[in-house]
Amino acid sequence: MPDSSRTQRARKPDVTAGSEVRFRRLTPRDAAELSYLELDIFKAPWSEQGLRDCLELTSVEGEAALVEGHIAGYLIVQSVVDEAHILNLAVHQPHRGKGLSRRLMERFFQRAIPRGITSFYLEVRAGNRVAQKLYFSLGFAPVYVRRNYYPDGEDALILVKKL
Ligand SMILES: CC(C)(COP(=O)(O)OP(=O)(O)OC[C@H]1O[C@@H](n2cnc3c(N)ncnc32)[C@H](O)[C@@H]1OP(=O)(O)O)[C@@H](O)C(=O)NCCC(=O)NCCS
Repeated sequence: MPDSSRTQRARKPDVTAGSEVRFRRLTPRDAAELSYLELDIFKAPWSEQGLRDCLELTSVEGEAALVEGHIAGYLIVQSVVDEAHILNLAVHQPHRGKGLSRRLMERFFQRAIPRGITSFYLEVRAGNRVAQKLYFSLGFAPVYVRRNYYPDGEDALILVKKL
């Protein structure tokens, strides 16, 4: 999973204040909007075509958090039998620190657990402390390190949550 350069806890002005957050499933038609967000957020962004191809897979589900009709955050997961792999989680900078990613993850757990999913996997940059703090608080634990996993040579931590 790609990552952020954000390391400091600095709560942003709450631009979602007064704006309702809605959630809806992602479809391949969202690929263009997501690709713009990816460019803003990640050092190694997913391409529009890559996003479209991914969202076309029947094993993949994505959910968007919408603020004023625009995608403010998104989660993309691939599930196979009793395992789910978190492929992508991101929140656009102006909407961070307001619980959107936690809500996206918890909403996914609520859908996945009744379907019999018992293991959740993801990879995160070794230096992405913000994301790691979120995942640890959700019950993920590190299982191993993939050395030099990212194109810039950074290691990936593989995290697992088992029910
Ligand atoms: C990581 C990311 C998805 C968090 O999204 P968010 O909506 O801002 O997170 P939330 O507001 O839901 O906060 C959830 C938890 O994350 C952690 N967190 C969020 N912002 C933080 C910050 N600035 N510093 C430290 N921890 C932070 C906290 O544990 C927080 O829980 P708490 O508020 O109960 O303390 C977001 O920063 C992001 O998109 N980063 C860039 C992309 C990325 O790194 N994706 C993950 C790839 S593995």
